[in-house]
Amino acid sequence: MSTPLLKIEHLRKKYDDGTEIIIPDMNLDVYAEDFLSILGPSGCGKSTLIRCIAGLERFEGSVQVDGVSVSSPGPDRIMVFQDFNQLFPWKTALQNIAYPLKINGMKDKAERIRTAEEFLDKVGLAAYRDYYPHQLSGGMKQRVAIAKGLALGSKIILMDEPFAALDAITRNQMQNELLRIKELVNMTVIFITHNIQEAISLGNRVMVMSKNGTIREHMENPLEKPVSPATKGYGELWQHLNSMLTSESQGREKAS
Ligand SMILES: Nc1ncnc2c1ncn2[C@@H]1O[C@H](COP(=O)(O)OP(=O)(O)OP(=O)(O)O)[C@@H](O)[C@H]1O
Ligand SMILES: [Mg+2]
Repeated sequence: MSTPLLKIEHLRKKYDDGTEIIIPDMNLDVYAEDFLSILGPSGCGKSTLIRCIAGLERFEGSVQVDGVSVSSPGPDRIMVFQDFNQLFPWKTALQNIAYPLKINGMKDKAERIRTAEEFLDKVGLAAYRDYYPHQLSGGMKQRVAIAKGLALGSKIILMDEPFAALDAITRNQMQNELLRIKELVNMTVIFITHNIQEAISLGNRVMVMSKNGTIREHMENPLEKPVSPATKGYGELWQHLNSMLTSESQGREKAS
């Protein structure tokens, strides 16, 4: 088997101001082009885990991306936030991708524009290069946010409940958009959600965290894409994950 793109070994996280150990000892491998959905009860440590991967938290143990240890945020891991509000409203789609390249040291303006165009094209938005975020749909903004990360050389896209605040129809559109981008560019995604349908529609792997910050189950998603409730095996998988989440959501037990 090939080397994992993300390798987490003995990750242990305890917040300085808390007495609780949030993640006691986690080992996890994520391979290039995987789409890993993470489910787990509220407060189990999902955001903590993704923040450790993003380099936004200090932790014990090791998190490596492509063999390089994570200790701070870096362009190899991009966090895509809810509302995709990391886009500058006063910059066009093209400028939103080109500007971070400048900040990250790409000195030649023509090269920045060329790179931004290339990545806009990759996510199917070449025709929208001069549109401002408010002129784009939510799905298009998501594509610009991802293109921005990919242009910077991001190897992993980190998403923490990006669609949680959306109504059901928009959420469905955003999920489909994300799957389309995934088909266009072979990116690696770690995606946190509370929604079982979302987890099994999007992920080729699904991980369930237990309330104590451990991995309860990490499996390959057996469902054939595109996934719908009519897909063979959907009901059984949904039930399996739901009963696991129900049994886990009885409140966090104190770990020491
Ligand atoms: N900055 C912080 N300082 C202290 N404790 C924190 C901090 N951030 C999170 N926690 C605690 O860590 C635990 C896990 O929080 P985390 O946000 O990772 O959970 P989660 O699984 O993402 O929950 P949710 O599904 O509700 O978003 C909680 O008990 C929370 O109170
Ligand atoms: Mg969270």
